[in-house]
Amino acid sequence: MIVDASINQTTAQRLSVFGSLPDGTVCSSNSARSHRAVPGDTSGLYLLSGGLPEIDGSHGDAVTQFVHDSVMLPEIMAIFSDLTTGVFLDATLGGAGHSVALLNEHPSVSLLGIDQDDVALDAARAVLTSAGHSGRVALRRARFDSVTRVADEEGISSLAGALFDLGVSSPQFDVAERGFSYRFEAPLDMRMDRTQTLSADVVVNTYEVEALADMLRRNADERHAHRIAKAIVAARPIHTTTRLSEVVSAAIPAPARRRGGHPAKRTFQAIRIEVNAELDILPGALRDVIALLAPGARLAVLTYHSGEDRIVKSVMRTAENGDCTCPPNLPCGCGAVRSVIRIRAPRDASKAELARNPRASSARLRVVEKISDGGAK
Ligand SMILES: C[S@@+](CC[C@H](N)C(=O)[O-])C[C@H]1O[C@@H](n2cnc3c(N)ncnc32)[C@H](O)[C@@H]1O
Repeated sequence: MIVDASINQTTAQRLSVFGSLPDGTVCSSNSARSHRAVPGDTSGLYLLSGGLPEIDGSHGDAVTQFVHDSVMLPEIMAIFSDLTTGVFLDATLGGAGHSVALLNEHPSVSLLGIDQDDVALDAARAVLTSAGHSGRVALRRARFDSVTRVADEEGISSLAGALFDLGVSSPQFDVAERGFSYRFEAPLDMRMDRTQTLSADVVVNTYEVEALADMLRRNADERHAHRIAKAIVAARPIHTTTRLSEVVSAAIPAPARRRGGHPAKRTFQAIRIEVNAELDILPGALRDVIALLAPGARLAVLTYHSGEDRIVKSVMRTAENGDCTCPPNLPCGCGAVRSVIRIRAPRDASKAELARNPRASSARLRVVEKISDGGAK
């Protein structure tokens, strides 16, 4: 089946807006206001030029406003165009851009929204409330590998559809003190879940050289992993993003430093993935969600780097062929039972989206549909 991605998308659907007051209070709006790109920004984040929108009857003063431009929204809407009733899982709620659009389009569907970041969750709650959807959403601060328990606690036994939009949201990157970005001076943090103890500071200041080098290779295919790891250990203690960025940049040979973007980009990506266990928990979480899908329900996954995409492809392929161990040219005799079929959908963002939202350039979309009670292969 080919999904039609031609669904019309309004600006208000496309943008989920949220920001923070100087005291850290999070506020949000779905209003499409004039905005300008942050200079040098490559994450799809926009700084609004107006004041704060009205939220819950109050106005804020001059503060920072953030927008996360939901990636491949028309394609996601098309994949789930047949939703009628039931519970939709947004396993990576973020600014709730995808979720608001889905709830707007499907008035009888309710939402289970999960995010491990309390700031994102508060922002999503405000966005969903101002869109008039608070009556049909359950929001939980949780890591998506606890989805089975969370669903059980919410009395949800099957899902009408599910979405993973992996990685970090634009506001996480662009709030300096979260410590995700080498662009801002900040303490080394990078935790999406700010209650956990493992932070970028712990990784940078306690891992042995070999563990650091392995992590840099595994999570970011860093060619200069060993040199960078040795330089980090020699420069300890390192407590800020800018100091780490300097140490990493100096460790990379000069010709390589001039190629392929910021020299510390891969190191920051690798540490973020490590801190948030992004790759480790993904296969189990995807399998759990596939098990929860009702027959005919779809799972869509958006990834932003090759390591994630390889995992998604492998889990989906295994579910598709039922882990069959028979030679590919022979009929199956091992009793494998397949649980999904693959759905053909656009793999990448459209040219128009790429021109507007650079964050979409690395996005890859994969979709499967649950089949009734598993089918013999
Ligand atoms: C790319 S953003 C999602 C944006 C959202 N689709 C939208 O349209 O606004 C990814 C979100 O997933 C959350 N996240 C990442 N890994 C997670 C995990 N393992 N468990 C729960 N939430 C996670 C992040 O905190 C972030 O808010």
